[in-house]
Amino acid sequence: METQISSQTESLWLLFLTPKLLDLSYRNIALLALLILSAGLSVALLNWAHPGGHAWGKYWRKRGTKSEGNKIPGPRGIPVLGSMNLMTNLAHHKLAAKANELGAKRLMAFSLGETRVVVTSNPDVAKEILKSLFFADRPIKESAYSLMFNRAIGFARYGVYWRTLRKIAATHLLGPRQLTYSEAQRFEIAVQMMSVIKNHPGEFQVRELLKKASLNNMMCSIFGCKYELGKLNAETEELGRLVEEGYDLLGRLNWSDHIPFLSRFDLQKIRCRCAKLVSKMDVFVNWIIAEHRAQALLSSDKSNHDFVDILLSLQGAEKLCDSDMVAVLWEMIFRGTDTVAVLIEWILARMVVHPDVQAKVQEELDSMVGKTKPVTESDIPSLAFLQAVVKEVLRLHPPGPLLSWARLAVTDATVDGYHVPAGTTAMVNMWAITRDPSVWSEPLKFMPERFVVGDFQIMGSDLRLAPFGSGKRVCPGKTMGFATVCFWVASLLHEFEWMKPEADVDLSELLRLSCEMKQPLTVKVRPRRIIY
Ligand code: HEM
Repeated sequence: METQISSQTESLWLLFLTPKLLDLSYRNIALLALLILSAGLSVALLNWAHPGGHAWGKYWRKRGTKSEGNKIPGPRGIPVLGSMNLMTNLAHHKLAAKANELGAKRLMAFSLGETRVVVTSNPDVAKEILKSLFFADRPIKESAYSLMFNRAIGFARYGVYWRTLRKIAATHLLGPRQLTYSEAQRFEIAVQMMSVIKNHPGEFQVRELLKKASLNNMMCSIFGCKYELGKLNAETEELGRLVEEGYDLLGRLNWSDHIPFLSRFDLQKIRCRCAKLVSKMDVFVNWIIAEHRAQALLSSDKSNHDFVDILLSLQGAEKLCDSDMVAVLWEMIFRGTDTVAVLIEWILARMVVHPDVQAKVQEELDSMVGKTKPVTESDIPSLAFLQAVVKEVLRLHPPGPLLSWARLAVTDATVDGYHVPAGTTAMVNMWAITRDPSVWSEPLKFMPERFVVGDFQIMGSDLRLAPFGSGKRVCPGKTMGFATVCFWVASLLHEFEWMKPEADVDLSELLRLSCEMKQPLTVKVRPRRIIY
């Protein structure tokens, strides 16, 4: 009905304007401009009046549907711009509050400029979205394109190329065989971390050390580069900066992604920064690839060691060109580095804030591992309370509260009985689910005990807590990520007692690509293990 009215109005204007245009005076031009402006304004207001605001209104107007009954509830936001404000700063908090206010926890619609978005704060609806093949794609941000990440796993279109990449990563980098193979390297890095910490007098911040340890771990698995923690190294410093920059760019809300006419201006300088970063990434990775090729020619030993060797050895349908290899390798570094470091920092913060829980983990370590032995990865399955602590921190501080990267509806779909058109971005507010009193009892309390009984699966089958996502696009590094975190945390707690600094620990959050502590954690430690 609305569409009919507006198209009739448009025809009337044309009839009225045609003779006038023949006589173009200043007065007529001004009149014409005024008419165009008021037509634009009326359309913008008509779009805005729909639940979910501008982008949803535009869709429904074009579709010309009469039914008002089955629209997804949601905020209108500002005409044309939509609800950009919801996605700034702590977006997961704002989205949860808005969904509560509108009674739209199961599904809420909103607009980001021209982008239609739905978000759920409900585990059943989250399962419907994440497990559905209709949502197996991701919306590609300009920054992801500019960094060539549309050729890497996280942003590749769902299809043959993406499946090939996942298979390669699962078989050669993140699978059980590689996990066992890289155990020694994680142990070595844990020993280095301990020795750096031992030499810290008084209070210190752990963040930089954790980030470096995690980066060194990924650099070793992926590029075969070994760096020593605690020793200044210009190469790792530079790499750390590149990862930090990529992380920042991918995590930013880019207005150009949602308001197309802004994209030519690059107002936030994201395109410009991406171009600089990509040229540096290219130089570094191409140098590594060239070195590996040269090494392969010289060496008669054909056993593959790191991920670059594996990628270079692929043949036939699996063979990747150099630029695709650069994208895949970098993505692994970006994804694998910060998530692990961010989570360990949250765990240590919780241990410092809850010394009783820390003492319980240490009791378990002493009884299952023994005070004279260092922890090994084979001890982890017997450390039930330690694993419960990691799960409880993942519940209260999921590194991806909105699961980091959204999903995209590839075709029209039905979610929770509502029509969700193709091209809609779908998000899951995991943070809201894990703090919902109708899902978890006493959700704001830190109670690892809740995970001791039963065997709660956090790898994507139970959407009450799925910090690694779920479905086809579930995190392929989940087993490696969880194993690394459990082992390093066990080692750090076995070796030291972690204590509060003079000032209190601030548990406020900062949402970037992952959700990290706003203020880096400052701690004091006391050695606790008996070393003969
Ligand atoms: C604590 C550690 C980690 C957490 C919490 C985490 C979390 C996530 C989440 C929430 C997603 C989105 C899943 C979805 O859409 O359903 C994801 C995707 C992804 N993660 Fe992780 N991750 C972690 C570690 C890692 C590691 C160690 C790697 C690799 C070295 C990795 C590589 C990836 C990749 C490549 C994707 C994209 C998958 C795809 O689109 O097919 N992650 N991760």
